[in-house]
Amino acid sequence: MHRREFLRICGRSAGAMAFGPGVVLQSCESQPTLPEPDERLTLRIPRTMDAGDALLAAGAAELDLGSYTSRGWGYNGTLPGPTLRTRVGDRARIRVLNQLSEETTIHWHGMVVPASMDGHPADAVLSGAGYNYEYPIAQRAGMNWYHPHPHGRTGRQIWRGLAGAFIVEDPAAEQGLPSGDREIPLLLRDGLLDGSGPFEYRRRDSGMVGDFPLVNGVPYPRITLAPALHRFRVLNAANARVFRLGMSNGSRFTLIGNDGGLLDQPVDLDRIDLGPAERVDILLDLSDQVVGAGLSLRCSRAGWDLLEIHVVGEPNGETVIPTAFSAIQLLPVGPGTRRRHFRFEGHRRINGREYRMDEVGFRVPLGETEIWEFESAGGAPHPVHVHGAHFQVLSRSGGRGRVFPWEQGWKDTVLLEDRERVEIAVRFDSYTGIYLLHCHQLEHEDAGMMLNFEVT
Ligand code: C2O
Ligand code: CU
Repeated sequence: MHRREFLRICGRSAGAMAFGPGVVLQSCESQPTLPEPDERLTLRIPRTMDAGDALLAAGAAELDLGSYTSRGWGYNGTLPGPTLRTRVGDRARIRVLNQLSEETTIHWHGMVVPASMDGHPADAVLSGAGYNYEYPIAQRAGMNWYHPHPHGRTGRQIWRGLAGAFIVEDPAAEQGLPSGDREIPLLLRDGLLDGSGPFEYRRRDSGMVGDFPLVNGVPYPRITLAPALHRFRVLNAANARVFRLGMSNGSRFTLIGNDGGLLDQPVDLDRIDLGPAERVDILLDLSDQVVGAGLSLRCSRAGWDLLEIHVVGEPNGETVIPTAFSAIQLLPVGPGTRRRHFRFEGHRRINGREYRMDEVGFRVPLGETEIWEFESAGGAPHPVHVHGAHFQVLSRSGGRGRVFPWEQGWKDTVLLEDRERVEIAVRFDSYTGIYLLHCHQLEHEDAGMMLNFEVT
């Protein structure tokens, strides 16, 4: 795709055509951004695949951006890759083929799986080879995701287009929530307006940040919905961008879940800050929207209307938002709980060290609760991610100074801004073996802000 073609489709024609090479586009919070188009493209819903019998081929692809294609990489040729679905108690069986010309692995982000199935960089799948990932689904329902995790190349491979959602269902726990076409997965990321295409990777230590939004692979899409309650399952799949989500008209919505599944109670909110790799599960009640009225899911940090929502049709049935979900047990912590401290420094170090694939940083006993303290020392935001278990956020001091409603319950990634200290409680209950702790700002991760630990 050519820059001019992209501008024609995506830009407000008059304004966009006036941009020459190197001209700074509409500026918002000092980042150049591509203006939204007059005519929006329709949101794509990725096709669903049963994780019990799935085949994912990672390879070069002409990625479909709605009305044109651009060269990138995809799982089964698409961005996002197919949405995998499974149920608590089932078994995932996923064959992965590496049709790239370099090594890759797949990490099932948020899935608690045996170490050999976790997509650790040491378990690289060579070009032309395959790997059979198989594991039981023994965790709470929620939206997770899958993406590459090869040594030093994760940022590039995800940016090129390799990522998809992985939904674990539990019909009993999710009773009464919107489903079918009222349950909409939204994979958010950004792309770069660049002569060589939006998926051209330009590594920057400070993070690969694009200048226009892609929602399920479509720039600035729209969706037409009935005046009813909808469930949006939102994933920040960007390399380095933090989204500040809200509705364009300031209306409130209901947060029901996050990384590790449903909260114990819904929370009414008007904004959420979502760091890379974090997820939120939200209910949006469109039943009293004026039919024909437009509103958008907005990122107020970037000034982007990410998804325009058009309400069309007759309201049918009343809207019932559940008042509670199953209770969340707090991990037992006390004065005797073992503590560890991790300092995320600049762009590449944890506690003064860069990642070494063959080095185990520390050992954690299976089944014991620990308190881990993450400290941000320059280079933030650092979205800190733990493999092998979910955790609970206990506190945040410095910086924003509080734990936000979207950080309750079970998490696997927590955002650290500048000068923040965050304490989590974590317990590895499922498997022994080597797992990763790392920054999910992918350029930090690739530069070495990652650590192996062993559950023993
Ligand atoms: Cu989403 Cu270690 O990664
Ligand atoms: Cu970082």
